[in-house]
Amino acid sequence: MTHATRDERLEGWLYDWENSLTLQRQNLDIGFYSALAARRWPSAVDILEFACGTGRVALPLSRAGHRVRGVDISQSRLLVAREKIEPGLEIAFEYGDMRCYDGKAAFDLVLVPYSSFLLLASDTERTSCLRSLRQRMKPGGLAVVDLSPNFLRHPETEQAPEAYGLCAPLNAMVELSHTVRQDYVRQITTIRKNYRITSAGGSVEEFATNETWYTLKVLEMRWLAAQSGLRVADILGTYHGDPLLCDGEYQPTAYKNIYLLEGA
Ligand SMILES: C[S@@+](CC[C@H](N)C(=O)[O-])C[C@H]1O[C@@H](n2cnc3c(N)ncnc32)[C@H](O)[C@@H]1O
Repeated sequence: MTHATRDERLEGWLYDWENSLTLQRQNLDIGFYSALAARRWPSAVDILEFACGTGRVALPLSRAGHRVRGVDISQSRLLVAREKIEPGLEIAFEYGDMRCYDGKAAFDLVLVPYSSFLLLASDTERTSCLRSLRQRMKPGGLAVVDLSPNFLRHPETEQAPEAYGLCAPLNAMVELSHTVRQDYVRQITTIRKNYRITSAGGSVEEFATNETWYTLKVLEMRWLAAQSGLRVADILGTYHGDPLLCDGEYQPTAYKNIYLLEGA
């Protein structure tokens, strides 16, 4: 049991609350990672997740029997993730930066789900992250970097209402609005999220976060992988395994952007 305060957990709780209302089919990635591991290895494996957040992906994979380590830079999300660990699970959540992660263990599967890789701001940071990931892969290991969703398709908005509902751990109603700005030339999307938190007693609190997402094209990602000692084994366009590209063109059915990487 930790002695963390409500304010220390606030950001992690809001992340979970938002996902519970808005994530929809993105949650299919959990089954996708599970099936991928089962196809490649006959039994439970060692999995490392970079940017694990509150354990949305790491915890179900651990419940499926895998040994999982999650690394994240947000102490608030890590606190919330650790509080969800049930007895008997082989899982650890560790503070760390995916741009320079220097853990010593080796893993069969290394994951960077839910577009976290697009938070990295330069090619130096991206190659540094991919090299860290490469160093943690066992021989025959696989890395998956999911670059979904496509942020540049998001319309620009000004405090547009996004979600409203009860956040149980806060015992408060939360209203989320988004302000989205696009820089199509530099492929940069900035999202300011405003959370208006109304407690059961009627007091109102505002909380805001700013995210900057750097969209990457297929050629850019291939170049980054090559720079980092990785080979692009496949690029998928859905969590059902459909390819992203067909004859060099985007498949009309593709709605995700998932890279499978192996040691070069
Ligand atoms: C979109 S969330 C994804 C969380 C989780 N993987 C999921 O699928 O729900 C992005 C996460 O990246 C983390 N993050 C951002 N930069 C990071 C870095 N340099 N190293 C580790 N984590 C980072 C954030 O704290 C956040 O939890």
